[in-house]
Amino acid sequence: MKKMWEGRFHQQQDAHFERWQRSLPFDCVLFPHELAANRVYARALAEIGILTPAELNALLEALETIARRVESNPASLDDPEAEDIHHLMEKWLIELVGEPGYKIHTGRSRNEQVATSLRLFVRESLDSIRRHLGDLIAALLEVAGRHHGVALPAYTHLQRAEPVLLAHWLLAYAEMLFRDADRLADCRRRVNVSPLGSGAVAGATVPLDRAWMAQELGFEAVSTNSMDATSDREFIAEFLQALALVAVHFSRLAEELALFATREYGFLQLPEQFSTGSSAMPQKKNPDALELLRGKAGRVVAAALSVLLVQKGLPLAYNKDLQETQEPLFDSARTVDESLAIAAGFVRAAEFATTAMQAAAGSGYLNATAAANYLVRRGVPFRKAHAIIGRAVSYALDKGCELEALSLEELRKFSPDFGEDFRDSIQLHRVLAEHDVAGGTAPAQVEAALAAARARLAADVKAASEGG
Ligand code: ARG
Repeated sequence: MKKMWEGRFHQQQDAHFERWQRSLPFDCVLFPHELAANRVYARALAEIGILTPAELNALLEALETIARRVESNPASLDDPEAEDIHHLMEKWLIELVGEPGYKIHTGRSRNEQVATSLRLFVRESLDSIRRHLGDLIAALLEVAGRHHGVALPAYTHLQRAEPVLLAHWLLAYAEMLFRDADRLADCRRRVNVSPLGSGAVAGATVPLDRAWMAQELGFEAVSTNSMDATSDREFIAEFLQALALVAVHFSRLAEELALFATREYGFLQLPEQFSTGSSAMPQKKNPDALELLRGKAGRVVAAALSVLLVQKGLPLAYNKDLQETQEPLFDSARTVDESLAIAAGFVRAAEFATTAMQAAAGSGYLNATAAANYLVRRGVPFRKAHAIIGRAVSYALDKGCELEALSLEELRKFSPDFGEDFRDSIQLHRVLAEHDVAGGTAPAQVEAALAAARARLAADVKAASEGG
């Protein structure tokens, strides 16, 4: 293999080491960004007279040839002669145009090139993931809008706790994803900074117009320290931390949907489009999509951690260790992007068993807290009301009935404060309506929350499309 750096070497590189240290098999995904950065760099060199206009033209045309080559034959990126994508581009330019190709590396280093292309890659992935997050939120809001007034049990400790509206449950997941979108938008500001012009470590040795190059590549600013710019991968760590939370969120949604789809819960029909059968048990329909979503969170969280650990204790400036941040980045970006699309498809296709949900919400003493509150309104201190209803529940459990099936005489054995209106006050719709605070599950509050979520989603989508 012809090396970019062979001048001072006398011996052949060990063949196994050569293959082992190459990054082209994975950094080839940086190709479109490398292409864009090369175009801009060539123009910047021409601007300061390092390339003649004819040389610049030759290089720009060669870059177009390379773009077409890769478009028509993506496998051409798999060039065993090249060490990494940066080497490959230079090699191709030299093959295509000779002399100007030998000039393109004037004043620059792969250390800044890789930092630049990785930032462009993260920016692009981040925007795509924001779009997919928005679509999953949209799917949740659509389902919420289709199920007005449907209730289900909310669980604490995986035990039925209080009834809530299905829309309220869906909106809880939307909240998590909104925070994810916020985090990504914030992360983007720190990603969108141009290292180009930082050289190998100390800054370029030719008077490049850094601000112009940054602007051409859509960066918002230029980096302010060449040592930091060439060695920093904090933006990858930060991006992957944000993705780890996205993955944790879709794993929670997936787990809960999988539980809902069990016979034991009976709240969800698994959509056949997103399910699989069993090779052995003919009756089965399995929630593989949900299980994979749950499982993929493991690898994204691990990737976030590995990128952080690669950087721990690393001295300034560029060190080859940094190449190890690439595979976790590429894998997580693709994993999260695809997973969000699958999750949105699943949510849209899933059929909620609203009758079973509603029945579960209206039984099993989920109105016990509301029953205690009834006594509180009659002047009984809450702790005492809690004990009274606790005893009434215990009595009803023994009898095998609901609280509302107890007669007034029976209830009065526990407290003289029960009245004729008690039974009505613990009906499901009354229980729901009682939670009438901002963020609560009272239907009017949920209606307002749904409207607010729709507005927020529209604003997020608009901001993301404007590159904010
Ligand atoms: N493939 C390398 C990486 O991803 C590019 C930078 C190499 N620079 C160097 N001086 N070896 O880190």
